[in-house]
Amino acid sequence: MKSYKELYSLVEQKIQQLNFDKHPKELFEPISYMLSLGGKRLRPVLVLMAADLFGEDIENAVSAALAVEVFHNFTLVHDDIMDRSDIRRGKPTVHKKWDQTVAILAGDLMMIKATDILCETKTSDLKNLISIFNKAAAEVCEGQQIDMNYEKRNDVSVGEYLEMITLKTAVLLGCSLNLGAAIAKANASDMKNIYEFGKNIGVAFQIQDDILDSFGEGEKVGKKIGGDIATNKKTLLLIRAFELADASTKNDLQKLIEEDAKNVDEKINAVLKIYEKVNVRKEAELLKEKYLATAFSHLDKISVDDSRKEILRNTANELMQRMS
Ligand code: IPE
Ligand code: IPE
Ligand code: MG
Ligand code: MG
Ligand code: MG
Repeated sequence: MKSYKELYSLVEQKIQQLNFDKHPKELFEPISYMLSLGGKRLRPVLVLMAADLFGEDIENAVSAALAVEVFHNFTLVHDDIMDRSDIRRGKPTVHKKWDQTVAILAGDLMMIKATDILCETKTSDLKNLISIFNKAAAEVCEGQQIDMNYEKRNDVSVGEYLEMITLKTAVLLGCSLNLGAAIAKANASDMKNIYEFGKNIGVAFQIQDDILDSFGEGEKVGKKIGGDIATNKKTLLLIRAFELADASTKNDLQKLIEEDAKNVDEKINAVLKIYEKVNVRKEAELLKEKYLATAFSHLDKISVDDSRKEILRNTANELMQRMS
């Protein structure tokens, strides 16, 4: 079984080989820029890990791995427009470095290229791969729209939040593992369990993303800390803070969310103080653990030797503690 580090290096090398050095440069340069900024390469690594788990030569899963990473980067380019984010991976976002029209079109082309790359997979059942991929891609769009809708709502429940992050984030992790498993011709029950493993890890992954957005170190996270607070994102932290706060704190929080902040940094600091007061981080950590446990219960059911699953188990554990 290959380690995360080995698979990461392979993905990195293959991404560098993708050729986006074409005309017009305003369309292609942002794509190369975005793909060269790095990141964890989690989704392609998961594609390869699943292929490896079920005994497939990982070379046969490289195209699918690259396809999900290009797709993921497309979603980030558009997400940064939607979330008004200026920094990603420690560098200016595409719509800041160029402009919004460039970011929209570069994102569109990345989506198209992602499908093209997926279709390069040598497999007897390409239709199945495309259907796994497109299902997740459509769900990400649904999740992203729900995320935007929730910016304007103040009565979002934890259940609604979990449904939203399942769509915008978790399904793509499930999809990545499913693509690797499908290429390796895993059986239906293993396909289902590895998907559920990925989806549950994905929910925990997004909870951690929300924790880092409020409590992380800007340098490591590579985004502006407090971005979710600034845009009134209905994260688990905000939803639970409302539920846990006493009447007067709730009132303060309500005002901070409803009024147009004159000073965004003041708003962020005031909300962070409330988060600390009601100890909402602890809540988020507990829920993360719950999803991790569910994920592992699905991993346990997969019909391969336990020793082969160790790498997925370790990866999941490391993701829960991630700082970037
Ligand atoms: C960011 O994804 C978007 C989310 C779904 C939280 P990652 O945290 O995987 O971003 P990179 O690719 O490592 O930069
Ligand atoms: C992003 O969620 C999910 C997708 C890009 C589909 P976030 O908006 O929380 O991701 P970051 O924090 O900007 O990376
Ligand atoms: Mg977003
Ligand atoms: Mg965002
Ligand atoms: Mg985030």
